[in-house]
Amino acid sequence: MKNDIHDLGLVLDSRVRLIVIESWEELRVLEAIATLAVKRSQTWYTWNQVEGLQRLGFGTAIDSAEDLGDPEQALDYVRRQREPALFVFCDLHPFMQSPRLVRLLKMIAMDPAEQAPTLLLVSHELPLPAELRRLAARISLSMPSDEQLAAIIREEAARWTERNQGRRVRTDSRTLEQVVRNLRGVTHEEARLLARKLIVDDGAITQEDLPVLNRAKFSLLDMQGVLSFEQDTARFADVGGLAQFKRWLADRQAAFNRPGAAADMPKGVLLAGVQGSGKSLAARAVAGLWGLPLLRLDFAALYNKYIGETEKNLREALTMADAMEPCVLWIDEIEKGLADDGADQGVSRRVLGTLLTWMAERRSRVFLVATANNVMQLPPELIRKGRLDELFFVDLPDARVREDIFRIHLGSRELPVERFDLTALAVASEGFAGAEIEQAVVSAVYSAAARQEEAGQAHVLAALSETSPLSVVMAERIQALRDWARHRAVMAD
Ligand SMILES: Nc1ncnc2c1ncn2[C@@H]1O[C@H](COP(=O)(O)OP(=O)(O)O)[C@@H](O)[C@H]1O
Ligand SMILES: [Mg+2]
Repeated sequence: MKNDIHDLGLVLDSRVRLIVIESWEELRVLEAIATLAVKRSQTWYTWNQVEGLQRLGFGTAIDSAEDLGDPEQALDYVRRQREPALFVFCDLHPFMQSPRLVRLLKMIAMDPAEQAPTLLLVSHELPLPAELRRLAARISLSMPSDEQLAAIIREEAARWTERNQGRRVRTDSRTLEQVVRNLRGVTHEEARLLARKLIVDDGAITQEDLPVLNRAKFSLLDMQGVLSFEQDTARFADVGGLAQFKRWLADRQAAFNRPGAAADMPKGVLLAGVQGSGKSLAARAVAGLWGLPLLRLDFAALYNKYIGETEKNLREALTMADAMEPCVLWIDEIEKGLADDGADQGVSRRVLGTLLTWMAERRSRVFLVATANNVMQLPPELIRKGRLDELFFVDLPDARVREDIFRIHLGSRELPVERFDLTALAVASEGFAGAEIEQAVVSAVYSAAARQEEAGQAHVLAALSETSPLSVVMAERIQALRDWARHRAVMAD
């Protein structure tokens, strides 16, 4: 916060007349400007559509014959002032389509007089029209540092003590450190809110608070579905096969968790291969295995929600992921977001560029797990050695792995695994992917229940014989994938 105020002061000194501050935290921005104005002995005013123009510190509306709730009349009023005051306009962005309003902003921005006012525009987002771009300065307010987060927690603890007859908040330094780490990425106000929430129920900050904090935090951070916190990590015990991949991960867990060693820190992997073979499941399991939070980056949401804003939102999501370190960042079916599909080539190229830059420059402990069904659609830059640590190919399961997968899915439906002949099931499911095996087990359970029988070997065999697996339907495509992978990828199993 100190630095933000400091920067804003420098911009004001440089006599820029038009300043844009993009922030979700209007109150905090106003607080910062108020502090600064007092320090600089400048008068300051706020404007919003509802309350019109108000002189701050007095909270009274300006007395004027004009309707100062109207943005254009208010700006015209500002334009005529001959005092070096700060005028803070909140949420002017919906009105930027008006040519007259843009003209007024331009006149204010170009005013050469010494005694001219300065206009600050505060919105969550404010793209400027071309006429104004070179006349305005942009200030961004950064997220709180670890020290600031710790200070916020201390302040909230002190508040609680004050209200509870001097009782002190119970905690320990290790938990506090973890809480600070988990708060990274939230704003000052959000951090305060979350800290208060942790303390208020029992006057203590303990290990039990950590999962609560994580959930609360992710509902606060409204990333519009682009980045989401996945509660549902998996265990590798639930993934059949992929032995090489599991070993690779086990070998690198220590390196990933070692603090400070950025150079040889594992960066990420791509899991490519046949559909339904457990790639998404394995991605979730990485987080489970390493005991890290799992963040999912959804390219589809990225493209849907923010037409024309795609890269900016990707950058924001990646910054957010950095702030959440250490964590696993999962991009499912990455080819869907990056494939050159002709129509909007420009956008997908720039998205790729943004992603590659982040991958090359980041210092954070964010392990990227990307999955792809159609790896041949992926741009070669992404696959090139050095970007990711390894490219794993997940093939159809062989007989031994199919037995494992049956064991897993029979077991998770509470069927007596020992009463099934797994070898025979493996033989009957030649060419089946894991998802299809699971499907057969499920339909066996249902058809048995419909006949009021107990699900057994015969039901599963019947279900298998009724399915024609994708590998038969798409034999050519799968062969092409294998040929592609032979020289480029490591077998996951
Ligand atoms: N190797 C496997 N071991 C256990 N279950 C599997 C395996 N592969 C697929 N499955 C089952 O099929 C479901 C769908 O698989 P998924 O991970 O989405 O495949 P992919 O992402 O490769 O298309 C999984 O959630 C799991 O229940
Ligand atoms: Mg998948």
